[in-house]
Amino acid sequence: QADERESLYLVSEFAKTYFHNTLLKTEPGKAIGLSYFKERGFTDETIQKFELGYSPDQWDAFTSHAIQKGYKLEFLEKTGLSIVKEEKQFDRFKGRVMFPILSMSGRTLGFGGRILTSDKKAAKYLNSPESDIYHKSKVLYGIYLAKQSIAKEDNCYLVEGYTDVIQFHQRGIHNVVSSSGTALTADQIRLVNRLTKNITVLFDGDAAGLRASLRGVDLILEQGMNVKICTFPEGEDPDSFARSNSLEELTSYLEEKSQDFISFKASLLASEAKNDPIKKADTIRDMVVSISKIPDVIKREVYIKECSRIMDISEEVLFNTLAQLLQKDA
Ligand code: CTP
Ligand code: MN
Ligand code: MN
Ligand code: MN
Ligand code: MN
Repeated sequence: QADERESLYLVSEFAKTYFHNTLLKTEPGKAIGLSYFKERGFTDETIQKFELGYSPDQWDAFTSHAIQKGYKLEFLEKTGLSIVKEEKQFDRFKGRVMFPILSMSGRTLGFGGRILTSDKKAAKYLNSPESDIYHKSKVLYGIYLAKQSIAKEDNCYLVEGYTDVIQFHQRGIHNVVSSSGTALTADQIRLVNRLTKNITVLFDGDAAGLRASLRGVDLILEQGMNVKICTFPEGEDPDSFARSNSLEELTSYLEEKSQDFISFKASLLASEAKNDPIKKADTIRDMVVSISKIPDVIKREVYIKECSRIMDISEEVLFNTLAQLLQKDA
């Protein structure tokens, strides 16, 4: 069992190097993959640091090469790098640029592969399937390169995508990880919790991004962590924003726009339905639900008072609601 996992690690490591070398040293890699990354504004240093790669646009270029080098098809299939169908073998990531996903200790667990054509039917990103070494609900993209900075800055930025992480690094912000488009999980938050108690959620400036950031809040609070939220202008994501702004502009934007979850929820209501009493009541209830997730009694009281003040509702009503919720959970 341990031996088999080791074999999966080895083949993933081999694949990472193969894709990286293909990007940097082959003609199609340079012409297609490398120029794509360059167009996105990634420097050579960034491409090296994240070990970005390219998977040739052929049915089984990687798989045949790996087998020729002595890797077993069984392990290639178990990592999802190769697909076996009717006794034929195919490369899962054919024709995609590759983002290796590393563990906290720097081992290669899996990959995200981005399509380069504008084929509307194919998924923009394809990810490694679940395996004995890759559990997508337990990894955060970028954690290996971010961990020291997260501890040092005592804060972690959480973004949606691979390129958001990469562009932040290039701008000089290193305490950033990505949930890679999946709904944030308690296991992912636990990885960060070992390094800092503070998370700032930075999601895309669209409806999906907003929903995703709201979903994550209660899970973060449940682990006794502090959560701030920062949204980006409509149509922007952290990658595009970081690319078109200087480090100073980015840093001051993050400082100015990061809001505590309570004021974030309040400002959402203010922008959506200023005077709708039903919406206001729903928002207040939602805030108290979030507050009820906080393990620390003193913090809960501080937030109840804050909520009472900004929503203009009595503390008594809020404390009663909180008590009911806590009873239900117990
Ligand atoms: N994602 C995915 N599968 C998709 C779309 C997205 O796994 N079909 C994941 C990827 O990890 C992606 C993240 O969700 O990085 C965020 O999605 P999105 O904002 O749509 O992509 P970006 O990261 O902004 O990618 P790009 O800038 O390359 O379009
Ligand atoms: Mn390299
Ligand atoms: Mn998005
Ligand atoms: Mn995005
Ligand atoms: Mn993007």
